[in-house]
This record gives sequence, C-alpha cells and structure tokens, in this order.
Amino acid sequence: MEPLIIVHSRDGSCSRVAELLREHLAGGEVRLLQEAEKRRGVFGFLRSGFQSARERPSRLLGQPWNGVSPGRHLYLVGPIWAGRPSPAIRAFLLGAGAGDAETVAASLQDVPVHILTVQADPKRERSGEVHTALTALVSAAGGSVVETVGITGAAPGRTAEPDALREQVVARVGRSPGAPAG
Ligand SMILES: Cc1cc2nc3c(=O)[nH]c(=O)nc-3n(C[C@H](O)[C@H](O)[C@H](O)COP(=O)(O)O)c2cc1C
Repeated sequence: MEPLIIVHSRDGSCSRVAELLREHLAGGEVRLLQEAEKRRGVFGFLRSGFQSARERPSRLLGQPWNGVSPGRHLYLVGPIWAGRPSPAIRAFLLGAGAGDAETVAASLQDVPVHILTVQADPKRERSGEVHTALTALVSAAGGSVVETVGITGAAPGRTAEPDALREQVVARVGRSPGAPAG
C-alpha cells in the first residue's frame, strides 16, 4: 500500500517537501489540503497568524480523509505558523472540515502517522512543542506517531530551494525505529 502524503502549503515549501518525500519513499499519493480561508496578502498573513496562534482549525474543502486506512502510512506535512501547527493540519486531525469528527477519528485507528513540520527558523524553535501538540491530536484520533521531523523552509512569501529541502528530507525522514524509509 503506497503511503498517503497529506500536505498544507501557503508558499510552496511544504509542497516541495511532499514531492521530495515521495521521491525518498519511492512512491506515494500526494494530496494538497484546500481551505475556505484566504491566505494571500498582508491581511491573509495576519489572519493566518492569528488563527494559528488561537489554535483554531480552518475549514477544509472536499474530503481529504478519503483513502486513510489501517496500516497505510500517513505523512502529514505542514508549516508552523505563530509557533503552532497550521490550522489546516489541525483541521485535518480534528476532522472539523467534514463536520463529522467521529468518523474521521475512527479512521485514524491503526494508522501509522509521520509528522513533518516546515518553518522559517533555522533553529527550528517551537518545533518540539508543535510536534507534541500534533502527537496528542493524532493519539486522540486513534493513530500512532512513528516519527516527527522538523525542516527549515523559507521566510513567509518565499519558497525554499529544492536542494536544501532534499538534503533535510534524506537526512531526517525514516530515522526513527519503525519508520519505513531511511
Ligand atoms: C502566518 C505565518 C506565520 C508564521 N509563523 C512562523 C513561526 O512562528 N516560526 C517560524 O519559524 N516560521 C513561521 N512562518 C514561516 C513559515 O513556517 C515558512 O515560510 C514555511 O516555509 C512555510 O511553508 P509553505 O511555503 O509550505 O507555506 C510563518 C509563516 C506564516 C505565513
């Protein structure tokens, strides 16, 4: 069963990480989360930071949970905003977009989950706290976290260079016991 790679990206770095991950894993289905919220411009930026700081989920479009199934490795790739997981990744885990949290929570049962966060800060400040918060959301939905990986992306509005991202993906993904790639 090929891995499912769920990604949220505003400025393109997480999308690149998802594609590089597919290369690294030699397969996988990449699915980009679509939201109702507007993220562009100064107001979009401010609203995004505010929403994330307040730990609010966004409203997801469609049914991004389709295809999540027991035993199928799920990779979640998303940015850190205002020192928190991005609202779309939060929404994915809470199942808020579907308005049907019970079904979604049940669907993470026996799902091995890999968490990848991308942020501007080269020291990756707050990534530990964000990984802890995301691990709790995965556990609450019945899934189990295989590994957590922090990646340095680019400043807001910029997209990180593929080579710099590739190096980090290759060096860091699949290093934990039980992770399928290495
Ligand atoms: C609203 C907003 C808030 C952000 N807050 C942080 C932050 O707290 N720490 C950090 O290191 N980077 C922060 N960033 C930078 C992003 O994490 C970085 O640009 C990342 O590469 C974005 O991934 P993307 O290109 O896939 O959207 C923020 C970006 C935005 C848009």
